[in-house]
Amino acid sequence: QQDSRLERISSAIRVIPDFPKPGIMFQDITTLLLDTKAFRDTIDLFVERYRDKNISVVAGVEARGFIFGPPIALAIGAKFVPMRKPNKLPGEVISEEYSLEYGTDKMEMHVGAVQPGDRALIIDDLIATGGTLGAAIKLLERVGVHVVECACVIELPELKGREKLGDKSLFVLVKGA
Ligand code: PRP
Repeated sequence: QQDSRLERISSAIRVIPDFPKPGIMFQDITTLLLDTKAFRDTIDLFVERYRDKNISVVAGVEARGFIFGPPIALAIGAKFVPMRKPNKLPGEVISEEYSLEYGTDKMEMHVGAVQPGDRALIIDDLIATGGTLGAAIKLLERVGVHVVECACVIELPELKGREKLGDKSLFVLVKGA
């Protein structure tokens, strides 16, 4: 039953070659959101894994972590905290810089959104090089949060993003290329 859910999820994700630039096979989760069963199964699989793990915070990474994170947070009774691109959050923020293929980017979180001792699950749609999730882990750990696990719908294993997460475990539903 688990396998048939994963197969349906995998086939609901559309792969668009050469977007946003030549050579990139873009994993488009918007088609997963159109398949009501596959979308529900996606959320259910995460909820089944995390409901008894005493998680107090679901931290969602902009942009697509904002789609998958909130329904999981509501179902497991955790608060939802957005991890945003720079200069989007209106309150006082703490930020973490991380490297991209060319240059750097920054991730920001509101001061006071989480407390030391919170137990966090970090959610995004996809892990590629792991730079984004690595920054999210650092940001939360800097303020004394225990990161229980990172979870994504899709992993691109060839990019070895897992290695950037140190000893943090990563849970993914499907793998892409
Ligand atoms: C994508 C994806 C992850 C990140 C993963 O976001 O949704 O957040 O890249 O890449 P990494 O593992 O190499 O760090 P994108 O950069 O497309 O930003 P967006 O979600 O705001 O469109």
